[in-house]
Amino acid sequence: MAIEKTFSIIKPDAVERNLIGDVVKMIQDSGLKVKAMKMIQMDRAKAEGFYAVHSERPFFGELVDYMISGPVVVSCLEGENAIENYRNLMGATNPADAAEGTIRAAFGQDIQNNSCHGSDAPETAATEIAYFFNDDELVG
Ligand code: CMP
Repeated sequence: MAIEKTFSIIKPDAVERNLIGDVVKMIQDSGLKVKAMKMIQMDRAKAEGFYAVHSERPFFGELVDYMISGPVVVSCLEGENAIENYRNLMGATNPADAAEGTIRAAFGQDIQNNSCHGSDAPETAATEIAYFFNDDELVG
């Protein structure tokens, strides 16, 4: 199985509830390695650009409002099959549907306030990592 990189966001609902450490513990316990990590406050343009693929969705405005409502923790994670493994660790988008033992089952509040984001494919992982990190920040 190939070593991959993926991109993660610990979203405002989780940061606000002091859950950064809990989420990072689940990530590290799963075997994923933190290559890069920082806390940032996105502005509207940054969040709109990140979620541009969803710009026609009815929830786009609320999603952007939420993502700029407070700081987030962005990271680049690395490991075998990292993209799929991290998506499995996060669980279903809607926490109500997320399997036991997943981040969203443990901490997610609703489909919007779902505590974390992870890339869905190799191309989006590369784009998303580069959207937040320079190569010289991938130090882990
Ligand atoms: P994420 O994996 O970051 O990808 C897009 C985000 O949009 C998703 O997590 C949710 O936070 C949000 N989202 C997806 N579907 C809905 C929905 N039906 N209503 C509100 N927010 C949604």
